[in-house]
Amino acid sequence: MPKNEATNELPLRLAVPASYPASPTRDVRGRLLGGEAEIGAALVISPADIRATLEGISLDGDEAVFTLDREVSFSGPAMIAPETDLPIETDVFRIGFDAGITGSFTPGQEIDVEIAMGRIGVTVQSITENEIVVRAPGTIAIDTYERQPDYGRARIYDGDAQISEGRVGMEGYADQRELRTVRATNITRVAHRVSSDDRCGRHGHSGGVLWLTGLSGSGKSTLAVELEIALFNRGYQVYVLDGDNIRHGLNANLGFSPEDRSENIRRVGEVAALFARAGFIAVSAFISPYQSDRERARAAAGEDFHEIFVNAGLETCEQRDPKGLYKQARAGKIPDFTGISAPYEAPDHPDLIVDTENLDVAESVAVMIDYISEQFTVRD
Ligand code: ADX
Repeated sequence: MPKNEATNELPLRLAVPASYPASPTRDVRGRLLGGEAEIGAALVISPADIRATLEGISLDGDEAVFTLDREVSFSGPAMIAPETDLPIETDVFRIGFDAGITGSFTPGQEIDVEIAMGRIGVTVQSITENEIVVRAPGTIAIDTYERQPDYGRARIYDGDAQISEGRVGMEGYADQRELRTVRATNITRVAHRVSSDDRCGRHGHSGGVLWLTGLSGSGKSTLAVELEIALFNRGYQVYVLDGDNIRHGLNANLGFSPEDRSENIRRVGEVAALFARAGFIAVSAFISPYQSDRERARAAAGEDFHEIFVNAGLETCEQRDPKGLYKQARAGKIPDFTGISAPYEAPDHPDLIVDTENLDVAESVAVMIDYISEQFTVRD
């Protein structure tokens, strides 16, 4: 049973390089970062989420070839780890700089980052004095510095030159593994016998999702219910899914941790997509602070998804404070409050922006109705 004595306290990590070919194989070569490789161990290849059992191992310097119990096919970079101690799956993470180390960054800047999994290109999303938030083009596997200092460092490159270095962090962001993993087996899709054209013919318009996102107090719920009645009176099939309502029922078991918010949006994204497929216009009103979650909701609904940014700045929302929650959050009585102690990632390219700082409710609804009249197929 080969062991790496120096690092046997660490969970097993085999980093498979970007160059790894996607052709099916039982032998996977990578860099053994640490941990103990035990024959018979149940392994997971992330982010592809492929499971396999380790049948053999051969060491070659700091490289190792894992022989698995079956052929696997995935492309690198990837991380192989035991199912009992998996890395985090995400497309967004923080890089915190040690005292004295920083760098000069701008939002939207593309940088290369060397993390345990390998070197990846990321985009700088936001910058504070001692930290940046970066976004990868797809899901990656990471360990945070907090949990695994040995695997949790990030070196930042400009071409070949290292320009900075920091600690990988996930504070305020969810591990997306649970959101991506399909647990059910032996399931087969059933084809409907009513087509979306049939439904469109019956309802007089196509179905879709109007996904309202914005800070608490930006006006999402107000606009959603006003839009609902305005569309209903014009003959549309329309239904509002609202955060405060859904959290009393379907999502009553979820709180406001990053994981719970992501699960909240995953479920609502699926429900909204079902409404859309049923031919309805689903108007959803959730803060939905994370871009990755909104992208998943868009993927669930396909081309019928319209992201609407209900835009009012934090200062305005805090002044409005319709439920008195900002005041409580500032007093430290509500943890993880969006905009105060939890992140809000404004949409980069929303399909529509409704500027509720400068438009009143009627004007805002008019903007949305104009948009809907343009975007949704209407039949007499
Ligand atoms: S989301 O972030 O998961 O999309 P959602 O829209 O469902 O949030 O719920 C937001 C509503 O919950 C807010 O309008 C507010 O009334 C209430 N709320 C309670 N605690 C929090 C919190 N920590 N952060 C934001 N909103 C909160």
